[in-house]
Amino acid sequence: MAEILDGRVLAHEIQGDVATEVARLADEGTVLTLVALQVGEDPGTRAYGRVLARASREVGIRFEAQELPEETPQAVLLRELEARNRDPEIHGVLVHRPLPSHLDPYAVSEAVAPIKDVDGLHPLNLGKLLTGQPGIIPATPLAVRDLLVHFGHAPLGKHVVVVGRSDIVGRPLAALLMQKNPESNATVTVAHSRTKSLDRHTRAADIVVVAVGRPGFLRKDMVRPGAVVVDVGINSVPDPERPGKRRLVGDVAFAEVEAVAGAVSPVPGGVGPVTVAALLRNTVEAFDLSIPGS
Ligand SMILES: NC(=O)c1ccc[n+]([C@@H]2O[C@H](COP(=O)([O-])OP(=O)(O)OC[C@H]3O[C@@H](n4cnc5c(N)ncnc54)[C@H](OP(=O)(O)O)[C@@H]3O)[C@@H](O)[C@H]2O)c1
Repeated sequence: MAEILDGRVLAHEIQGDVATEVARLADEGTVLTLVALQVGEDPGTRAYGRVLARASREVGIRFEAQELPEETPQAVLLRELEARNRDPEIHGVLVHRPLPSHLDPYAVSEAVAPIKDVDGLHPLNLGKLLTGQPGIIPATPLAVRDLLVHFGHAPLGKHVVVVGRSDIVGRPLAALLMQKNPESNATVTVAHSRTKSLDRHTRAADIVVVAVGRPGFLRKDMVRPGAVVVDVGINSVPDPERPGKRRLVGDVAFAEVEAVAGAVSPVPGGVGPVTVAALLRNTVEAFDLSIPGS
């Protein structure tokens, strides 16, 4: 049976470090503040917002959530962001995704000040990630790397296959894992919906990371025995044990992959909680980077 990469343990550890840092800043007179804007009423986003609010409270970060109507024009959202950018009492700003289709996600990412961009999606931060300069790195890719390093599966020298090339997971993760850095230094293959013979690629991997958004996507015959599997997927499916209810599952066919893999991250309780902790750590990082000369 595979080792279970329990993200809750690691998240608890990271949040402990963040809480210490937040308390030190509070002693120096700074109440670290994070603002999250949601456009529309997506229930999944609301649930994530509640998780973020609770985790922020636990580490002592002041958390402000603002919900804007679904039909909010882009100009209005950009003005809201501009106001947060100018407010010296606010240190981190994020806009929940997915956004309603009339909003341009790239324009929204660019409208968040790079030093408050705790999601690391501003082109300046993404450029820094690509060139290996210090900046704010998106939380989910950080969570994947932290999980691997924490459980003794550091990517250094390994062949990692990332399935999925989205702007928030696959692409920044590939950039992070290939960095010339002792915690990265992996050889990375990125696969996507047009990849031919996907299973040939995944079976050649020491580490497979799946971020596709399809329940049970990664089957056991796609995994080399003993390989490490990280499941980024979060999918809501009907719960067979509770008629009428739903539950969260990942992109990995967990029961069968667990039988062949060397290690696998569960859903829930794997990448998700570490992502939240990494986002809070990014808020501290954003504050540190905003200090001139840091
Ligand atoms: N745990 C967390 O913190 C966290 C954070 C973010 C997202 N997620 C979850 O992670 C999953 C992925 O999210 P996302 O935002 O990256 O999704 P996304 O934007 O929909 O991207 C999905 C990626 O999967 C690829 N794909 C789709 N079908 C495929 C196939 N048959 N074979 C190979 N690749 C295929 C797509 O390829 P193309 O590019 O060719 O279309 C795309 O690159 C979702 O379940 C999401 O909820 C979790």
